[in-house]
Amino acid sequence: MTTAFLEAIVSEYDALTAAARQAREKAHAPFSNFKVGAALRTPSGKIYGGCNVENATYGLTVCAERVAIFKAISEGERKFNAIAVATDTDALTPPCGACRQLIWEFCGDVPVIMTNLQGKVDTIRMRELFPKPFDSSNL
Ligand code: THU
Repeated sequence: MTTAFLEAIVSEYDALTAAARQAREKAHAPFSNFKVGAALRTPSGKIYGGCNVENATYGLTVCAERVAIFKAISEGERKFNAIAVATDTDALTPPCGACRQLIWEFCGDVPVIMTNLQGKVDTIRMRELFPKPFDSSNL
């Protein structure tokens, strides 16, 4: 791979991780104080952000990843090629189990780019994060 090609990939993910960090700023997390941002990218390059939204029952909390997915789906999007997750932690945050299910069903084997506020980045594909999924192929 050429340097230009690698730089293009890096900057492509830079926009997505920046969007996830920006989405995190809107997190409503008064109970856990654990703010999460997510950003989902469509093949045309459009980015949908989402943040976690907590409430007093705790259990009805929706994670940042699922908020981003529902925002995009409700706007008519159906194809995605990457998702980023941003938290203010040294150990980068992977999506929870419930989010893995929905990321798999709506995005498939996309790269999950985890990042923090210092710009640390790690990427893992959904196939690795969620190796034996239940999905429509099982029905
Ligand atoms: N959370 C997310 O938004 N995404 C994740 O990937 C992990 C967890 C949220 C849910 C809850 O508001 C807070 O983080 C603590 O679990």
